[in-house]
Amino acid sequence: EVWNPNGKYRVVSTKAMPGTRWINLLIEQDCRVEICTQKKTILSVEDIIALMGDKCDGVIGQLTEDWGETLFSALSRAGGKAFSNMAVGYNNVDVNAATKYGVAVGNTPGVLTETTAELAASLSLAAARRIVEADEFMRAGLYDGWLPQLFVGNLLKGQTVGVIGAGRIGSAYARMMVEGFKMNLIYYDLYQSTRLEKFVTGMSGSSVKIYQLLTLILMLICFLFAAYGQFLKANGEQPVTWKRASSMNEVLQEADVEAILINCSRGPVVDEVALVEHLKANPMFRVGLDVFEDEPYMKPGLADMKNAIVVPHIASASKWTREGMATLAALNVLGKIKGYPIWSDPNR
Ligand code: DGY
Repeated sequence: EVWNPNGKYRVVSTKAMPGTRWINLLIEQDCRVEICTQKKTILSVEDIIALMGDKCDGVIGQLTEDWGETLFSALSRAGGKAFSNMAVGYNNVDVNAATKYGVAVGNTPGVLTETTAELAASLSLAAARRIVEADEFMRAGLYDGWLPQLFVGNLLKGQTVGVIGAGRIGSAYARMMVEGFKMNLIYYDLYQSTRLEKFVTGMSGSSVKIYQLLTLILMLICFLFAAYGQFLKANGEQPVTWKRASSMNEVLQEADVEAILINCSRGPVVDEVALVEHLKANPMFRVGLDVFEDEPYMKPGLADMKNAIVVPHIASASKWTREGMATLAALNVLGKIKGYPIWSDPNR
């Protein structure tokens, strides 16, 4: 799909994105906008090289793509100066490789904070009150009358929520759980959070240990490598072993049998095989997962677990937020093409 075919600058978007504001912004500034219409969800490096062609000034890409040496060198050969991920996370982007090839990189923070926190809160409530299980039960025609023990879950009020990662999203989530549901809060982060301190009723900061986070709800909302790696280190683990992080297994082993684990960060912070085993052994332990270790796949067994709620990486999927992310991504690329600093540079 091509907009403004005679535009001076060629900007490629590897996916169609919501709204038209981002397209209009680019067109108004003399860009020809090309949106990939390939049906497959995940584009390969070769697909993207073909899309960029011989002349490409900037690219808006997605978290499912592998933006490393190969793509940044190809973009630079095509005369490209700017790349924006349409995501706040940029673990799929090798920022050093981009710098080496003179490509500025942007991401889209801020506009997804509340939306993502709301999904985390939804998963927390749904897990605590077993809403998905109860819905399936009802639809299966199994309800034959009120019972004192039917789908008994947990009350959140007065219980403790532990948050790993007290950035924008973690703080918004913590605020919702403390102000809205009167939960107690403890958190782990590399830094003491000024946003969160007023809500903290337990422990906070980088010295919090795993066993201290074994609360009713443990919510993960950290960067894949930075915060989680530090968390492992603080607990005597080497971050390089993140894929098989025994610390996470330790959390699972020692967690309260009725604890709830929520992951809205990146899949690999949780060892999914260990998680499936734990879910099998502890039917009242519950999880709400928005992300998966080998996305888009789930590890064998997870889909069969009644005590798991699984959703397809939709934490930022509100209309307002997704349009905002698309607009920020366009501004990132446009800014650089026009000679301004990139709108949102993760290095800054
Ligand atoms: C992100 O932005 O990093 C989310 O994972 C998707 O919105």
